[in-house]
Formats: sequence, C-alpha cells, structure tokens
Amino acid sequence: MNILLLGSGGRESALAWKISQSPECSNLIIAPGNGGTARYGRNIPLKPTDLQGVLDAVKANDIDMVVVGNEDPLVAGITDFLAENAPEVLVVGPSKEGARLEGSKDFAKQFMEAEGIPTARYRSFTAETLEEGKKFLATLTPPYVLKADGLAAGKGVLILDNLDEACKELEEMLGGMFGASSATVVIEEFLSGIECSVFVLTDGNGGYRILPVAKDYKRIYEGDKGPNTGGMGAVSPVAFADKEFMDKVEARIVKPTIEGLRRRGIDYKGFIFLGLINVGGEPMVIEYNVRMGDPETEVVMLRIASDLVPLLKATAEGNLGYMPLEHDKRAAATVMLVSGGYPGSYPKGKVIRGIDAADATDDTILFHAGTAVDPRGDTVTSGGRVIAVSSYGKDLDDALSRSYAVADKVDFEGKFMRRDIGNEFVGKK
Ligand code: AMP
Ligand code: GLY
Repeated sequence: MNILLLGSGGRESALAWKISQSPECSNLIIAPGNGGTARYGRNIPLKPTDLQGVLDAVKANDIDMVVVGNEDPLVAGITDFLAENAPEVLVVGPSKEGARLEGSKDFAKQFMEAEGIPTARYRSFTAETLEEGKKFLATLTPPYVLKADGLAAGKGVLILDNLDEACKELEEMLGGMFGASSATVVIEEFLSGIECSVFVLTDGNGGYRILPVAKDYKRIYEGDKGPNTGGMGAVSPVAFADKEFMDKVEARIVKPTIEGLRRRGIDYKGFIFLGLINVGGEPMVIEYNVRMGDPETEVVMLRIASDLVPLLKATAEGNLGYMPLEHDKRAAATVMLVSGGYPGSYPKGKVIRGIDAADATDDTILFHAGTAVDPRGDTVTSGGRVIAVSSYGKDLDDALSRSYAVADKVDFEGKFMRRDIGNEFVGKK
C-alpha cells in the first residue's frame, strides 16, 4: 500500500524506519520529513496542518493510508476532513473531538473524573474566576501545578514552590501568557513519583494493543535539572512497569479510557499516549496525548518485533481484533543530540559530521529530528533536537553504551547531550 506519514521529527523518522521495513508498504511519503527521512521514503514539502494540501497529496499520490505523527493536524481536524473528502483513505489518528484529550487539559480532566480514572485532584479557572483560583491554590500544599488548557508546545505547565509566585503566574497565564491556550488554566495537586509513557493503539471498536513501555527524560540538564525540553532521551523497557503495575494500568486506565470514548461516541482510531506517574505502586495519569511520544517512539519502534503496517491498517479499519503485537526481547535506548542553547534560542545550519558513524553497526540507528540537507548536499542542523541516537542492547546498560559510543562520534558546533539517560535503571555508566 501507499502510505503518507505526516510530521518532521525524530518520532516520524522512527515511524518511517519501521513502516518502510514492511513488505506491505510499497511507497512511503513523508510530509515534510527532515534531513534523514528520505532514507526511508520520499519527502514532500507540505505542512501537516495544511488540510487541503494533505488531501491534494493523498489524491496525487494514490495514498491508501495516512499516519498522523504530530498532534497539530489532529487537533485541527485532519481525520474528519479526510473522512469527508476522501472516505476511502485509511487514517491512523483520532477525530478532532478525540484529539481534545490532548488539545484541552480541562476536557481531559473532566473525562478522567467522569470515568473514575486515577489522576490528580484539580479545578479549572478563567479570567472571571481568578480570585477563586487564588483561593483554591491556598488550599493546596506546595509545589503548585498550573497548566494552560490548550496546546502550548510542551511549555504550558508551570510547577512553582511558592504560593505568591503561583498566584502571580496564574494571573499572567489567564492574562494571555500563552495566548488563547491559557484562557483557561487547570490547577492540580502535585503528584510525586517516577513517570513513564504507555502507548496504546486502539481501533475505535474496543480493540486495543499496549505497546512496549518507555520513559523519557524531559529536563535539559543531568539530574533532571533546568527547563523542560521536548525530551533528551528515552529508554525501554522500564523496570518498575512490571506485570502487576501494567495490569493496574490496563484495568484502571486503558479500558476505562477506551470505553469512555466509545460511550461518548467519539471516533478514535489511533495512538493514545498515557503520561503516567507511579505513586507508591499506583499508576495515575498526568496527561493524555493523542499521538506517539518523542523521543519515546525512537525506542518503542525498536522494541516492536511485529510488522507495524498490518497493525496500523487494522487500527484504521477498526478491526485490531486478535492481531498479534510481539515485543522485541532486547532493550532500547535513545540519546538526543541537541543544539547549543536549546530549549532557548539556538543557531541553525551547523554542518553535522560523523553522520555515517552508525552505519558500521547493526545495533544503532540515527533518527534525524531537526536536520535538513543544504544546497551543497551537507546535512545541517535545523532545529533544537537534532538527532536521536538509538540502539538495541542485550540490556539497557548495553543499549546505552552503544548509543553513547555513536553519540560521541556525531558532531556539530554547539552539540549538547545529557550523559545520564537511563542511569536510575543501570546504576552506572
Ligand atoms: P504535561 O505537559 O501535562 O505532561 O506536564 C509536563 C510535566 O510536568 C510532566 O511530565 C510532569 O513531569 C510534570 N507534571 C505535570 N502535572 C504534574 C502533577 N500533577 N504532579 C507532578 N508533576 C506534574
Ligand atoms: N516526550 C513527551 C512527548 O512527546 O510529549
């Protein structure tokens, strides 16, 4: 089949790598892709949020299935738009209504509360209820968690230690700090524990498969210090997400989520990303996303032994049924190479050297993220997160050593990486 994959990050590189291995994939087009994705298919210059442009590309290239990598086109309604204008095309990605699980934190919290899904206690406020919001903050114990309701490119969550500061930030958020995204702010209880990311493929008919569990590392500096980033690395499996924990996740979170969507008549065929926190052995939901995680996908794809394309096809057709999803027994780790200055401002256009360092190994793959090919044919940096160096290993220690060995060989001016990815699971490195 002909497949169109939307997006341009490391996540899409990993999806493209996996999809392109399938005997069922005859042509793969990535829109817009990056400096590395042409290895797996053909890049076309198209913005995923340009819905009409996507439809035109579907028609022009005889596309059978669209796989939506990032959330923006989903929140913008790409799935509904294609269903209306090209009903014969399969789409992996929820409807606009389903995408509200990520597009509105207030909606997600109401949904969880109604379904009895474990999550932090919360209340939502707008500019009109600012004073009530401040009073609510005073009833909580620090730290205080403030979340912009809408999409804010991963920057919409503030965690503050001090009540006065929290009140001030609430006022600023409601005053337009994140534009329309923070016209409503969710204030919630702080939860303490280790986080992990659980991904579910669901077919909108009650069928689902849970993918290998991953953990990402969000802060820029070692020891989880400094500002949040899109993610500096990831590992899979996650030791604490054992059978007992995952049984709880499935019974208390996965099943009620899928059932809740169905009961509301929300069309949801695609990935559900559960951002979970382990609070004393009990899983609680921090957030929903309606797509795969980045950089989690860069390890999760390595750990799926089955062909992904039949699974995606069955998801979009609504008949995931008993289709097997085999996990690879090996461990996987990814280390993100980022531009100096990220997540603040950073330069672009730096030539990347050593890009073939992974070609000599069977166990390490460079998933390009913010890269481009310049007119001279050089691969250059074009974003904050540049390359996810991803490896298999017999265990996590081995996978991490392989990724770091290659990460040291790939170089560009200002290159930065965290050296402590996965440390809590391997103890040393
Ligand atoms: P989110 O965008 O909702 O994933 O939040 C970003 C990060 O903020 C999460 O990955 C957590 O590390 C942290 N966070 C969000 N909500 C809470 C909470 N209720 N308690 C503790 N940490 C939180
Ligand atoms: N790595 C977290 C995310 O993709 O949102």
